[in-house]
Amino acid sequence: MEISLIEYSEDKKNVLIDLLTSGSWPFHSTPKITKEKVVEQLQNGYFTGEGKRTFIIYADGNATGVIRLFDLGSGPEDDETPLFDIKIKEKKRGMGIGKKALTWLTELVFTEYPKKTRFEATTRIDNKAMRKVFESCGFVKEAHYRQAWPDEEGNKHDCTGYSILRNDWLNKIKTEVNWNS
Ligand SMILES: CC(C)(COP(=O)(O)OP(=O)(O)OC[C@H]1O[C@@H](n2cnc3c(N)ncnc32)[C@H](O)[C@@H]1OP(=O)(O)O)[C@@H](O)C(=O)NCCC(=O)NCCS
Repeated sequence: MEISLIEYSEDKKNVLIDLLTSGSWPFHSTPKITKEKVVEQLQNGYFTGEGKRTFIIYADGNATGVIRLFDLGSGPEDDETPLFDIKIKEKKRGMGIGKKALTWLTELVFTEYPKKTRFEATTRIDNKAMRKVFESCGFVKEAHYRQAWPDEEGNKHDCTGYSILRNDWLNKIKTEVNWNS
């Protein structure tokens, strides 16, 4: 499957709305997103603007997912640690798209932002697919937040934090956390 990521621009507004409103995001605090909400987020600069970039994931030419990169700081020389969120259409999950997209995004972060030394993300403890994607893409678990992730009913789930270091990315290795230090 041919995967490409194209940066969001105004002409892709309807594509973004369709992707985010057409399915369910079971591990997010708001599993169903309305069109009104996405329009409001677009108006409020949730997807673009300083420190934020959004990409549409295309699989064999079809819009299949969305990645929002945020906390990038004020420009290419900023050393703030960026985070991301990824959403792939229900029918296209489990086909390797997540792994390819995160590999691509990690390369973008470390090549376009020379001062970034780490790239991180969190996910709910039971999001096994996302955790496998992290593991496959060189990310290492470095945090466990207890009862930190609320779901729609208000239940609080544990949450995991992963990151990849520039040095590990460059050397294609994983440096494990020294929990006894
Ligand atoms: C999480 C998500 C981005 C992963 O992308 P994906 O394209 O489905 O992932 P991939 O196909 O590249 O890899 C998924 C891996 O998890 C495995 N997997 C998928 N579902 C699984 C499950 N329920 N239990 C265990 N493993 C699972 C796959 O077999 C694959 O494993 P592998 O590395 O051994 O091949 C995607 O499923 C998604 O958009 N989910 C809903 C939104 C979401 O949860 N986003 C993350 C927010 S932090």
